[in-house]
Amino acid sequence: MDPIVDLDFIDNRTPEQAAACDTKVTAETNTGKGRKLYIESYGCQMNFSDSEIVSSIMFEQGFDTTADIAQADLVFLNTCSIREKAEQTVRNRLGQINYYKKKKPAMMVGVLGCMAERLKKSLLEEEKIVDLVVGPDAYRDLPNLISEVDGGQKAVNVLLSREETYADINPIRLNSNGVSAYISIMRGCDNMCSFCVVPFTRGRERSRDASSILREAQALSEQGYKEVTLLGQNVDSYKWASEDGTEKVIFAQLLEKVALVDTNMRVRFSTSHPKDITDEVLHTIKKYDNICKYIHLPAQSGNSRVLELMNRTYDRDWYLNRVDAIRRILGEECGISSDMIAGFCTETEEEHQETLTLMDYVQYDYSYMFFYSERPGTLAARKLEDDIPLEVKKRRLAEIIEKQRETSLNRNKLDVGRMHKVLVEGFSKKSDEQLSGRNDQNKVVIFDKKHYKKGDYVNVFVHDCSVGTLFGKAID
Ligand code: SAH
Ligand code: SF4
Ligand code: F3S
Repeated sequence: MDPIVDLDFIDNRTPEQAAACDTKVTAETNTGKGRKLYIESYGCQMNFSDSEIVSSIMFEQGFDTTADIAQADLVFLNTCSIREKAEQTVRNRLGQINYYKKKKPAMMVGVLGCMAERLKKSLLEEEKIVDLVVGPDAYRDLPNLISEVDGGQKAVNVLLSREETYADINPIRLNSNGVSAYISIMRGCDNMCSFCVVPFTRGRERSRDASSILREAQALSEQGYKEVTLLGQNVDSYKWASEDGTEKVIFAQLLEKVALVDTNMRVRFSTSHPKDITDEVLHTIKKYDNICKYIHLPAQSGNSRVLELMNRTYDRDWYLNRVDAIRRILGEECGISSDMIAGFCTETEEEHQETLTLMDYVQYDYSYMFFYSERPGTLAARKLEDDIPLEVKKRRLAEIIEKQRETSLNRNKLDVGRMHKVLVEGFSKKSDEQLSGRNDQNKVVIFDKKHYKKGDYVNVFVHDCSVGTLFGKAID
């Protein structure tokens, strides 16, 4: 595992997840009766989670899922708009899919997700191969849209909703290793960071009914899952109230309720926003052994002026105060990761240096690092000039990546010589004699298999590390 350097489109996923998913469906549902759906997902975990909802809706309509695009009657790309390159990747993929469509002209092609929402019906004109364009809040309408396409038309639904959370839909777990699963707890984002397209593609923030989240966690536990990740663009602002107002749940309480569903099932969550993460959440994490001591807390920049231009609504001191609170309440061993943007509008060399000194201070376990990519329609695109030359952006990004490699190695060295509780996810990439799993801090740990298997918790003594991986020995 290398530190997280994916400049293309992958976001809140670990590098392992990013590499493993490689956008393909690996689980097949096969009734043998239906037409076949092939779905690829791009972008963040929310999209991967949405593809599971889409598969469920399509399954109800008699569509099986297939991992083989050549077998597909219907091909969906669940897309991301976060950076220009993310969209380019999808356009290139549509070009490749054309090859299959030529061989099988009846094949339907749908673009779902954030790119569908951003480009709307213009996507039909730009990409002739596309038959349907469906935004993230319109998946319940898929059966109607498919009928329209069956009837020989093109179909579009990009309506955003203030209520939709797909709370009652039972996701079909695609790509799952049978050990960990995502639970989407909220949708949309109200934050309006100036660089970010998400509020436009995902709409207003809304929280999902807490009881439906707990039911999903319970079902996963009964199916033998050992880890759930609660997903939202800003999980700390989760807030749900029952219709009669008698029950109110905020994130710290939800976290506790999920932890109590099955104390043998790990709970992770992503993403935490530095302006919203409270000490109450940190104390809840501390209170339960099965809530992982790992927080993804994107800083974006270490300079207060740039943070203000980014409309992140916190400054460097506030961010560092939150990091100090994590260290105070959860200790040095709590994993912290970040997202960083190099070369945001008007960023000076000195301001870029402050990102590096912030990284020195925090000692992130890892980071997802990008250079700024202007997105049409965002506040920054309308108000600020994208004035940092590409070579400068790239050089600053390379410095951030180098800094991250240093701190990842520092942090991993602190893990050497200690025992770690590892949840096994499968074989290591290099050998079937070795297993790969994660410790509490979400770090990949590799060790000899012995009699252990996927889904086991194993005590591993770590004796060595690289920038991205811990190596150890299982202790019976
Ligand atoms: N909700 C999460 C982030 C979601 S997007 C949060 O607030 O932290 C994932 C990451 O993509 C962001 O944290 C940011 O680092 C990066 N990103 C978003 N828009 C970008 C842009 N226009 N250019 C480069 N990186 C961007
Ligand atoms: Fe985008 Fe900011 Fe919302 Fe994250 S919090 S999704 S970066 S607008
Ligand atoms: Fe991309 Fe949409 Fe997620 S823009 S990062 S897929 S919310």
